[in-house]
Amino acid sequence: EKGGYPSFMEKEIHDQPEAVGQTLLGRSDLDGRLTLDELRIDPQLLKTVSKIIVLACGTSAYAGQVAKYAIEHWCRIPVEVELSHEFRYRDPIVDANTLIVAISQSGETMDTLMAVRYAKEQGAKVLAICNTNGSTIPREADAVLYTHAGPEIAVASTKAFLAQITAAYLLGLYLAQLRGNKFQGEIRDILADLGKIPAKIQKVLDNAQDIKDLAVRMADTKSVLFLGRHVGFPVAMEGALKLKELAYIHAEGFAAGELKHGPIALIEDGQPVFVVVPSPRGRNSLHAKVVSNIQEIRARGAKTIVIAEEGDEAVKDFAEFVFFVPETPTLLAPLLTTVPLQIFACALATAKGFDVDQPRNLAKSVTVE
Ligand code: F6R
Repeated sequence: EKGGYPSFMEKEIHDQPEAVGQTLLGRSDLDGRLTLDELRIDPQLLKTVSKIIVLACGTSAYAGQVAKYAIEHWCRIPVEVELSHEFRYRDPIVDANTLIVAISQSGETMDTLMAVRYAKEQGAKVLAICNTNGSTIPREADAVLYTHAGPEIAVASTKAFLAQITAAYLLGLYLAQLRGNKFQGEIRDILADLGKIPAKIQKVLDNAQDIKDLAVRMADTKSVLFLGRHVGFPVAMEGALKLKELAYIHAEGFAAGELKHGPIALIEDGQPVFVVVPSPRGRNSLHAKVVSNIQEIRARGAKTIVIAEEGDEAVKDFAEFVFFVPETPTLLAPLLTTVPLQIFACALATAKGFDVDQPRNLAKSVTVE
């Protein structure tokens, strides 16, 4: 059942090329058009959406944050991402032109379910991105886009996360197609790039031995920081969450741009810091900014562990350790950059002798508030 792996978590990390591939399967045609007829929602209605609010908890909320960057860029629809339990207890502005996107692996998370019910009462339409067929959230939603990651057994989410991001990209591309905006021509290219992701994840998995060895060497670490920018920011948050959950180590993710506004005070000699570096090919100057962040923390003694794109020679001089992921467009990069962070957390927890499938105090689906 664990497919020869010592834990479900390791199996599920290795299932990720398939989880992404299955989630893409059958959802576009050869002409590069999205075919999401399975969404039981009137396309006319999706055309008139003026705001999207993503509701989710934990790892699923980080998938929502990645979705925000992609959907706003492709569709020019404002996207807010809110933790379900925060949304419900304030006075959110929701109307009939608001599309709620509820992201949940289990489809049973009580906080997200209650937030969905609340939004429906306010007249919003709800689309669920969910991994569990027939679970409560998709049953109550107006539309559902299933992630086809297969059952996720390990408590900490891995393959469901990548599948959620993949499904959110498909939703964004579909909305862009429906709305016929100027971005039309790029949809086919992005679908083609998405199609190449499973093989690229496989490459990351095949190259992972060094990061596992690093994790074993770092087994006594007390605190690890994670920095990222743009879509690398939610990836950094997810890397930190995995390490907390599995290895019970203090870990925190930051937006790299926030460093000077406080967190840099934490940097002292020997502090390990993961940095998710954007592609140097990006059309913005983010790569240079993050490289200068690396220099700043290194000058203060940080031990930098860098996740960068293949061919990014500039980072080498500033890193204790570099892990390269294959080239991909910036918005799709989380499907690759997350993987070494999952592997690191899993290997470190294993080195400490912890049960990575059943971390202490946690449950797979949180059906209480
Ligand atoms: C983290 C993790 C949790 C879940 C969260 C939401 O590894 O598993 O943070 O992501 O409890 O669960 P779902 O997606 O089932 O609503």
